[in-house]
Amino acid sequence: MSLPRAYIMNILAELRSRFEPVLTEWTDDPSSVIEMLKASQDAKFGDYQANFAMPLAARIPELKPRDLATQIVEKVDLSDFCEPLEVAGPGFINIKLKQDWLNTQTQNLVADERLGVAAAEAPQKVVVDFSAPNVAKPMHVGHLRSTVIGDANYRVLKFLGHDVVGDNHIGDWGTQFGMIIFGYKHFLNEAAFEEAPVTELARLYRLVNQLSDYHATKNAIPKKEEDINQQAEKLQSLESSADLTDKKIQKQIKKLKADLGESQAELTSQQESLTELEANEDLHSKAIAFPEIARLAREETARLHSGDAENIELWERFLPQCLDAIQTVYDRLNIHFDMTLGESFYQPLLADVVADLKQKGLAKESQGAICVFMQGIEAPFIVQKQDGAFTYATTDLATIKYRVEELKADRVLYVVDSRQSEHFKLLFATVKEWGYSDLELQHVSFGTVLGKNKRPYKTRSGDTVGLESLLDESIESAYQIVSENDDAKPDGPELNDAERRQIAEVVGLGGIKYADLKHNRDSDYVFDLDKMLANKGDTATYMQYAYARVCGIFRKGQIDRSALRDHQAALTLVDESERALALQINRYSEILESVATEARPNYLTNYLFELSNLFSTFYNNCHVLKAEEEAVKTSRLLLCDLTARIVEHGLSLLGIGTCERM
Ligand code: ARG
Repeated sequence: MSLPRAYIMNILAELRSRFEPVLTEWTDDPSSVIEMLKASQDAKFGDYQANFAMPLAARIPELKPRDLATQIVEKVDLSDFCEPLEVAGPGFINIKLKQDWLNTQTQNLVADERLGVAAAEAPQKVVVDFSAPNVAKPMHVGHLRSTVIGDANYRVLKFLGHDVVGDNHIGDWGTQFGMIIFGYKHFLNEAAFEEAPVTELARLYRLVNQLSDYHATKNAIPKKEEDINQQAEKLQSLESSADLTDKKIQKQIKKLKADLGESQAELTSQQESLTELEANEDLHSKAIAFPEIARLAREETARLHSGDAENIELWERFLPQCLDAIQTVYDRLNIHFDMTLGESFYQPLLADVVADLKQKGLAKESQGAICVFMQGIEAPFIVQKQDGAFTYATTDLATIKYRVEELKADRVLYVVDSRQSEHFKLLFATVKEWGYSDLELQHVSFGTVLGKNKRPYKTRSGDTVGLESLLDESIESAYQIVSENDDAKPDGPELNDAERRQIAEVVGLGGIKYADLKHNRDSDYVFDLDKMLANKGDTATYMQYAYARVCGIFRKGQIDRSALRDHQAALTLVDESERALALQINRYSEILESVATEARPNYLTNYLFELSNLFSTFYNNCHVLKAEEEAVKTSRLLLCDLTARIVEHGLSLLGIGTCERM
């Protein structure tokens, strides 16, 4: 049973829409300042606060911001849901919601299945391009971010009523396949391949990589030695001839010495890596047998791309195996894609893309390659290399054409590592000129996952960490935590082992996802399992406990939650902590809107953390089951129910589960 949607208001959006027309008196572009109307950081400044009087007054001579604020306040009518507006300090406008209105508004939420979140009036077709690993290598922690951030954005947009397509744009056509094909032809362990094909393919990939690196290093050493000799000679001649008291010369000598030290250290470490490989007889003999391995692997890729029957046959054999392997990870993480159109899918379209760009005068030849040059960007966008090969850029252009023409996309989100930001800048600029100027394009970029040493996350042996083993480890730690917590319950443990295992799965996976989502995605973050699973602080575990706690209240009071909702009892906010909690509950829709616009799931994690904290304060301040009066008890139970529903729903939008008991 849902009340008509008109009863429920996105408060922030409503406030902004009431102020915007009024501001036109002082600016042609009120939208440029309207975002200065926000939720207050501190309740003593009201529930919301508008700070735009300051920048607006700054543009008008002789007008004091405080006077401008007063004039604005006189013109805006919010009397249907707000207390009279207050002007404070240099010109802040403080907005406080009317108590009765907040009571009713919150009460309306009780019966609303969508928790106050209206579906978009003008739904867009949005493609979310996420995860997109280069297959043929096992997934590692680096793949987690795109997968988890992409999935959360996908879920939020979908809930807001957009027509969303999740597309896993896998790298299934790149040079790694040439390396694997070469490895397969020369170094295959057949029994191992029978047993676990992807593990064997991954071993072959690493092996070919290692052997190519060996030769690259070995070939670079003579030049390095020559450089060092030259640096040393230069230093010597400077020290013997120049005026050593000259400050400039001293500086030069210091710099030369530092450079020389650095080069020598590099050389030593390179020599060590060679010695290490040579100590392994098997590896060394393979290295000797194939001094040209890098070129040979590249040739295998080229043969694949030009349609060589044997290589195509191998690729067709490997690909399903690789896809199965990544699918296991997606299944565990409960990630779903609507389509998996990898790079290989677009290959037949690339020649036409280049021809079209040339015909439109966008692409031209430069040093043998075909490039697009964009104003203000120095690097060229290379769409065809000297040897005729198409590139990552060409594929992305073809992908956009397909997404617009076949999928009818209005907006595309690329959830990709920040190291590709230059690529996307060039891509987006090219696409605008190419004729898709209405398409909204957004690089949802993110930083690196670091280890505790602040370097990219690796195992002790220096390998990247397999994603599956990481998930196992997290679930195992969660099992310990859940068990300890259960053992410590005052009336003795409540859970059997199967229940503990099931909860551990939800907590373990939720912890990893939440930790990834809670950071501003642009920054790097340190992967630390203990912190991720802590039951206090900004973790999924903390919120999962808050949820279970509310379920416990209803169990203890033997209250049927859906009957409570249907009852339409009055909701009255008495204590300050109840009011604060209710206000936060009412802000769910505005938060989801902001997540969707900026593709920032951390706005939602922040919100849920604050909600859980406000719930804790409320629960400490107010009796629920033991409330003084029946009406107060019912009203508080409704608040508990709403909190739990939003925690559960919000976490589900982040791809994170909850349990009724923990
Ligand atoms: N496979 C690429 C990589 O691992 C990411 C692809 C992202 N999507 C795209 N349309 N470029 O770097």
